[in-house]
Amino acid sequence: MTCSSFGKCGSCVLYDMSYEDEVQFKAERLRELFCDFDMPTLEIFRSKEAHFRARAEFRIWHEGDKSYYAMFGLDKKIITIDECNIVDEAISDIMQPLLDEITKNEFLRHKLYAIEFLSNVNKELIITLIYHKKWQEEQLIPHIQHLKTKFPHTDYVLRRKGKKVFVDKNYLIETLHIKEETYQYKIIESTFTQPNRYINQQMIRWAMDNSEDLEGDLVEMYCGHGNFTIPLSKRFNKVIATEISPQSIQAALFNAQLNHRDNITFLAMSAAEFARLRSDDSVLLAKYNLQNILIDPPRAGLDDKSREFTNSFENIIYISCNPQTLKRDLEVLSQDRDIKAFAFFDQFPWTNHIECGVVLSKHG
Ligand SMILES: C[S@@+](CC[C@H](N)C(=O)[O-])C[C@H]1O[C@@H](n2cnc3c(N)ncnc32)[C@H](O)[C@@H]1O
Repeated sequence: MTCSSFGKCGSCVLYDMSYEDEVQFKAERLRELFCDFDMPTLEIFRSKEAHFRARAEFRIWHEGDKSYYAMFGLDKKIITIDECNIVDEAISDIMQPLLDEITKNEFLRHKLYAIEFLSNVNKELIITLIYHKKWQEEQLIPHIQHLKTKFPHTDYVLRRKGKKVFVDKNYLIETLHIKEETYQYKIIESTFTQPNRYINQQMIRWAMDNSEDLEGDLVEMYCGHGNFTIPLSKRFNKVIATEISPQSIQAALFNAQLNHRDNITFLAMSAAEFARLRSDDSVLLAKYNLQNILIDPPRAGLDDKSREFTNSFENIIYISCNPQTLKRDLEVLSQDRDIKAFAFFDQFPWTNHIECGVVLSKHG
């Protein structure tokens, strides 16, 4: 892939190698990091090289009567960029025309600080305009309606300190294809969504393949809007899935209905609170056969309580966006388990970030 921002923009730091070299470089780093564990062969899941990010945020830089998209450069200073080729076509196609329209309209342009984009496979967009000024919504909305006429398939979120307004909605319906089935998900702006839908589909497929022989129920922590939960619920009798964000849980409940899944219980609670239910001999957990757990924590990995809880399951599927914290957690989780599968998902091409997965099962 080429991009005129390569070599300047601090987002893509591995720009001076081919995509295959980038994949091998990261795969080797993973193998080295986990060389003290008894790891199976690393499976590699490649991304599209360009136009793979379904969400992105750009600063807006104003200079005289012109405005530009801006990012932190490789030297950590703000730089303006003419294009970004890692974002979905839906985003890259609209970026400049949208900014041209905004630049023509002093009310929309004045103190516009940043723009966030969220797209779906149908090229619909939620565009969030973030301001460093006070505005009344009745002043801004007519200008936004003009953008909506100019750019069909866009909805807008307007944000400033202490205020957020939607015109007309703050979510999209995303479609994923996994193992010849189609799933639909409500994805809400400002809640977590996997950034790379091509890799996301491969991660869900991998989790399904690796749970084929598992029996009983599934417990899931950090479930978001039910991204893994909904397809995996077809593999298990019952599923209980938890997540800290009430908005994501609302979306997850909606998504279970949308996909006709009726064997899932979603709960909005932190992983540590949920883990505590086990030590409290909860009536809720007594209804489940607690053998299988799927976890997909944020970069910090598992807290002590959640690690102890996870360690009480026979089979663990661990999706990680931070190999360092995965390694720390594996020191405990692999003590009386075999590592059955190890995967590298290139969710963040051209960056040093690595997403990976492991499957562990109690020694036979
Ligand atoms: C890496 S995301 C994974 C989400 C989901 N599995 C997916 O694929 O979309 C991590 C999720 O953990 C949630 N989270 C963060 N801290 C948490 C905590 N302490 N307890 C429970 N969930 C938490 C976030 O809101 C986010 O949805």
